[in-house]
This record gives sequence, structure tokens and C-alpha cells, in this order.
Amino acid sequence: MNYKTLLADHLAPHIEGISREQLMELIEYPPNPQMGDLSLPCFKLSKQMRKAPQAIAEELKTAWQPHEAVAKVDAVSGYFNVFLKPEFFAKDVIGEVLSRGDRYGSQDLGRGRNVVIDFSSPNIAKSFHIGHLRSTVIGSSLYKIFRFLGFNSVGVNHLGDWGTQFGKLIVAYKYWGNAETVEAEGIDELQRLYVKLHDEAETNPALEDEARAWFVKLEQGDEEARRLWKWFVDISLKEFHKMYDLLGVRFDSYAGESFYVDMVPSVIGKLEEKGLLEEDEGATLIRLDDYNMPPVLVFKKDGSTLYHTRDIAAAIYRKDTYDFAKCVYVTDAGQSLHFQQWFKVIELMGYDWADKLVHVPFGKVSLEGAKLSTRKGNVIRLEELLSQAIEKTREIIEAKNPNMENKEEVARKVGVGAVIFSDLSNNRIKDIVFSWEDALNFEGESGPYVQYTHARACSVLRKASGGDAGEIAVSADGLDAGLLGNPEALGVLKEIYLFTERVEQAMHKLEPSIISRYLVDLAQSFNRFYHECPILVDDAALRAARLALVKCVQITLRNGLALIGLEAPEKI
Ligand code: ARG
Repeated sequence: MNYKTLLADHLAPHIEGISREQLMELIEYPPNPQMGDLSLPCFKLSKQMRKAPQAIAEELKTAWQPHEAVAKVDAVSGYFNVFLKPEFFAKDVIGEVLSRGDRYGSQDLGRGRNVVIDFSSPNIAKSFHIGHLRSTVIGSSLYKIFRFLGFNSVGVNHLGDWGTQFGKLIVAYKYWGNAETVEAEGIDELQRLYVKLHDEAETNPALEDEARAWFVKLEQGDEEARRLWKWFVDISLKEFHKMYDLLGVRFDSYAGESFYVDMVPSVIGKLEEKGLLEEDEGATLIRLDDYNMPPVLVFKKDGSTLYHTRDIAAAIYRKDTYDFAKCVYVTDAGQSLHFQQWFKVIELMGYDWADKLVHVPFGKVSLEGAKLSTRKGNVIRLEELLSQAIEKTREIIEAKNPNMENKEEVARKVGVGAVIFSDLSNNRIKDIVFSWEDALNFEGESGPYVQYTHARACSVLRKASGGDAGEIAVSADGLDAGLLGNPEALGVLKEIYLFTERVEQAMHKLEPSIISRYLVDLAQSFNRFYHECPILVDDAALRAARLALVKCVQITLRNGLALIGLEAPEKI
């Protein structure tokens, strides 16, 4: 049952000038249990109802019709407070979680509509670094959250596989590269070649002209240029796929920037038609002075296309192909202006769906401690970071639980989970400093802590079945929910209940950290319960009630972990 809805339905007829939705937003969960389980602060209603808040609260109290879920209502200091019947609440929550299982927390808000999520989108021939990790894990989590809420998520990897850098790479390869080294060393070698071209061009600027000429050839479909380019793309993708497999991330489309090049002429036609283009020293641009933004360069003197232009073409293609309800772009905040500019262009082109384009920016990541920077400079490669995480987790497990089976697999799930979680544990717009100590702290606000709490719940359920025969079966039938009325058990139930709401908030705010933080709260409240309330007691009814609660915690933790991209091993 949704208790905010229950309350809003009851109160709406007695409150004027406010919609049911607005009412729902005003309802709070008081932190102090003496103020009830739900509360409506009446201060904001005071003006339109021309009454003092306390008078409104009193009126609502008088008008209240009894309900089976509600023990009592009260009017205190301008708040209308509702006290639920613990027994009803416990039975309701447990029944819902057990019956919905891995769908607990989901809703059908999307009714099958498409949401395009453009995320990860690394650049070809450049290593996958921890900045791209953020886009990858935030985007992948949003993908899962939208799907859980009834949307059809479409994950697009807008690979940076086009641009003048490919002209440079071709020239560098032709002068200094060889196929065996590129095959053997992959992106490392491609990057070395690229850097070499830059270094050499300082004394020999003609190389830059050669590179530009090769990019133009590539844009015109020159066979050799295309072949080399395709090969660079394939080599890079092989390495990216390793990361995606490790992170459990998937895409529905790998249509990168190159995919849209052929569509650019028709976009330009349309821009011309709308009178948006302007010549400037041979280049063509769109002025955005009226919107306080610098101009957007559409194509350069040599006719080659640009990042902006390809993004505009891609958005139009995606609207035609997916008819999206929303198209979100997950990149670092440094690209905010880029997105504001071309979103504006889409609007000026007269597309009424311009407001369905959303940029989801995030802050920078840095690493704690100089030791972590690599010999190649300050960009740490994700591959190294993940393998270190797995290695360090293996050491912790070895020390904690040397006889554990599947150590390798668990170290992978927990090590990778630790990195993902630390990336998602704060508001995305904040800059983060990655710290090994925090990420791998089994007692702190970390992925391993939540995973470990989940494994603890699994272990209780296994023990209850009397050994290694698997988990005990738990059912809501015949449950004496009154036995879960103590503060520790109720605290856990309230957290479990909040899950659905938190998932929905995470979607509205495009903020997976709402779920990560929620999971820490749930894990903490469960651990308090676990330490205060023995579960495997002799009293059969109490034991059954507490086991049902443990099962609900296990399900909720697992569902939440899945939404942020973490696995939930049963033993750690
Ligand atoms: N390749 C870009 C980068 O690495 C990100 C692309 C984001 N998506 C987009 N449609 N512009 O910074």
C-alpha cells in the first residue's frame, strides 16, 4: 500500500486550492516517531485556506474517517500527524515484498515509452579512463532504473569515432607505425602514435596539413582511410568490451559519431532553410548571442563536420527511430555548454521535442595519493583500477574467510562493486576523490558493506534451514506481524517501505546516488536489528516473523544493488 496516497486521498476533499499531487509532495515522514509515521505540515496551506496551521490540522483531525491501517491521528503545532498500526503496516510491507520478489520496488510509470540514454561514449584510440567510468556507471544505472519503472530503455554508446584526430592517427601510423605492434599493444600503441604526431608537428607543421587532408579523405569515403579507421575502431572496441563485461554494462546500440556523418547534409539543408546559418571567414556557424552563448561552428573551411553537428544529426535520427519520451546525455559537467548550445539549435529548428533532451552532468574524479598515478601521467586506466580493486578485495577475503569457496568470483563481484559504488555514493555533480580505504571499507558506507549485509541476510536464511540445504522458505501466510512491533524491527520495515519511493526519486532527479545512499540506510537499520534481536530463537512464531523480515531485507538489498549495477553474492 502507498501510505502517502492513502493520506492524500483522505485529506484532499477537505483542503481547497491544492492538487492531490501537490498534497503528496507536502507529506513527510517525521524523523521523530512521537510525531507519527506520516505528517502533513499545514503551514504552506495557511495562506490559501486563510486559517492558522494549527486550526487546519485540528479540522483535518475532526474530519478524519477511521481506516484499518491507521491507529490514530493528531494535530500538534501545525502538523497533522498519522500513526499507523504497526501490525497492519508490518503485514502489508512483508506481504508486498514477498509476493513481488525481484519486482519489489518497480512500477509501470513508463507504460513502455522509450527513453534513450547516451552514456559511456569513450573516444576511439584513447584509453578508457576513470572519467569515462563515471558516465558508464551513472548511465548504466539510469538505464536500469528507467526499465524498472516501466520505460523501455535504449542504451546508446555514442563512440567518439570521428573527427580530425583520425587524420592524425592515419598519418602517424603511416610514418611510424606497424601492424604487429598495433595488434599486440592496442590502444596504448595508438595513443603513442598520436602523441608522436603532436610532438613532431611542433617542428614540422606540414604534418598537421597532411592530417587534415586525411580526415577530409576519410569523410569522402576514401578506401584506404576507411580501412585504417575501421581497424582502429575494432582494436579499441575490443578493449572497451573487456571493461563493459567486467562492469556488467550493455548497450542496445554502438552507433558512434561516424554513423551520423551521412545525415549531416540534410541537417545543414534544414538549418539553411530556417535561416540559421552564417558565414564567418569561410566557416559556417550559428549565432546564439541572443541566448548569451558563443556561436556553434557547423562546419569548417574544408567542409569537415564537427562534434556539435553530428550531435544534432544524432538527436534527429534518434527521435525518428525511437520516438523517445526523453533522451539523456551523461557526460562530465565540462560539456554543459556544448549541450546547452545544440539543444538551443534543435529548438530554433522548430522541433517541439527540444525539451525532451536532457544533459546529465557529473563532477570530476581524482585519485587519493600520488602512488595511484600511473607512469604514463595522471590518467589512470580503468583496467588497472579494477584489477587493483579485485586484488585488494581478494586479500581482504583471504584474511577474513580463508576457507571460502569461489574466492575469485566473490573478489571480482565485491572489488568491481566497490569501485562502482564509490562512484555513485555522492550527488553526481560533486567532484569525487577516489579512496581505496573508503571504497573497500566493509564497515563504512561502501558497496562491500551493503553486499556484506546482503550476504549476512542470506547466511541467516541458510542457517535457519538447518545447514547447507539452501535457504529456508519464508511466507507471509500465518505471519504474526504483531511480533515485529519493536523499534528495531519497525525501523527496518520503514526503510524497506521507502524503497519504491526512492527509486522513483532517483529517476526524477536522474540521480542513482539516491539509491546507493538508501541502501546504506537500509543496511544500517538491518544491522541494528540483527545485533539487538536474536533471530533463530526457540519461539516458532517469533522466529518465523523475524525470518520473514530478514527475507524482505535480502530481496530489497538485492533489487537495489541491481539498480546501481552491483551483484549480490550470497556468501562473502
Ligand atoms: N565522446 C565524448 C567524450 O568522451 C562523449 C560523448 C557524449 N555523447 C554525445 N552525444 N555527445 O567526451
